[in-house]
Amino acid sequence: MTLKPFTYVSLASRVVFGAGSVAQLAAEVDRLGARRALVLSTPGRAASVKVIASSLGARYAGLYDKAVMHTPLEVAQDARRVAQALDADCCIAVGGGSTIGLGKAIALTTGLPVLAVPTTYSGSEMTPIQGFTEGGIKRTQRDAKMLPKTVIYDPELTLGLPPATSAASGMNAIAHCVEALYALGANPVVTLMAEEGIRALAAALPAIVRDPRDANARSEALYGAWLAGVTLNTGIALHHKLCHTLGGTWNLPHAETHAVVLPHAVRYNRDAAPEAMARVARALGAKEAATGLYDLEVKLGLKMKLSDLGVREGDLERVVKIALEAPYPNPAPVTYDGVLALLKRAHAGLRPD
Ligand SMILES: NC(=O)c1ccc[n+]([C@@H]2O[C@H](COP(=O)([O-])OP(=O)(O)OC[C@H]3O[C@@H](n4cnc5c(N)ncnc54)[C@H](O)[C@@H]3O)[C@@H](O)[C@H]2O)c1
Repeated sequence: MTLKPFTYVSLASRVVFGAGSVAQLAAEVDRLGARRALVLSTPGRAASVKVIASSLGARYAGLYDKAVMHTPLEVAQDARRVAQALDADCCIAVGGGSTIGLGKAIALTTGLPVLAVPTTYSGSEMTPIQGFTEGGIKRTQRDAKMLPKTVIYDPELTLGLPPATSAASGMNAIAHCVEALYALGANPVVTLMAEEGIRALAAALPAIVRDPRDANARSEALYGAWLAGVTLNTGIALHHKLCHTLGGTWNLPHAETHAVVLPHAVRYNRDAAPEAMARVARALGAKEAATGLYDLEVKLGLKMKLSDLGVREGDLERVVKIALEAPYPNPAPVTYDGVLALLKRAHAGLRPD
């Protein structure tokens, strides 16, 4: 490994990991010194989240169950009003990146601490970054207040995550690890986590697709997602930019979009980041990074084409224009023609060459 100069920042959060660990929820709220918790969920998960919240007893202030993907600004403002009306002094986000993102949005303006109980592999719980949409454009903001103070990783809560959602979400986590290996802030500590995150997820996801109730695979995938979330703080590159553009402006499903674009974005960077590519390939147990990712996704039964997600070929030029208006730093130079060619291959779902 070539050791280049680097800066490493570790972010403070408390992680409680293990099957059954959600039983510690009330104790963890007490540990934060909070007394009135606003519990957050998506509409579809409200019933099961209420069951989890019942362990809070008098600490339960209420449930806000309108979390949606890409956190539209209006939803964030509505949730902040509810938090204030209930006189909440902490938020408990039980769910995937959408629910955790809403908790962060509340924290940003109110300063309320967030306790996250992730039930997907988005990794959002380990970052002080939040994506929100306003007027059809997705933007990201970063503020230390948004980093969840406590994260409870209970793999038992993921046993019901459907195999297709698990596979896509796991690839979203792998995408964080991959870009952390070549992001501007890459450093040796995060590199270790990124490679291990890819290894854990690539081993666990096929087992989960075979048997979604495989407890060991669920634990390993959640462990990989934790590592992936930590690596996300290192920075991101072209792949995440394209997915934010597609997700925010075309309202595409976040994790599924990551899965489709990842092999193509990695292929785009292949020659500019050879060391990172070698690590990705090694972690996947594949000959080469881009094709290894593509083949893993085929094995997981994921959708492989942007056209499968409803993107029309005629939209691709607009995606490139929006993505290039404020591009992220990227190992390979980001050019209009290059990115358009990348998206055309992703649109058709071609195996990277
Ligand atoms: N800021 C960050 O660091 C970061 C990182 C990754 C993702 N995100 C954001 O997170 C959002 C996407 O998150 P996501 O991919 O986790 O999707 P999500 O949170 O929308 O969850 C996907 C679906 O799965 C359901 N679900 C969640 N857990 C379940 C379970 N255990 N069993 C059954 N169903 C379950 C949800 O109700 C939802 O319908 C996007 O808005 C994205 O921008 C942010």
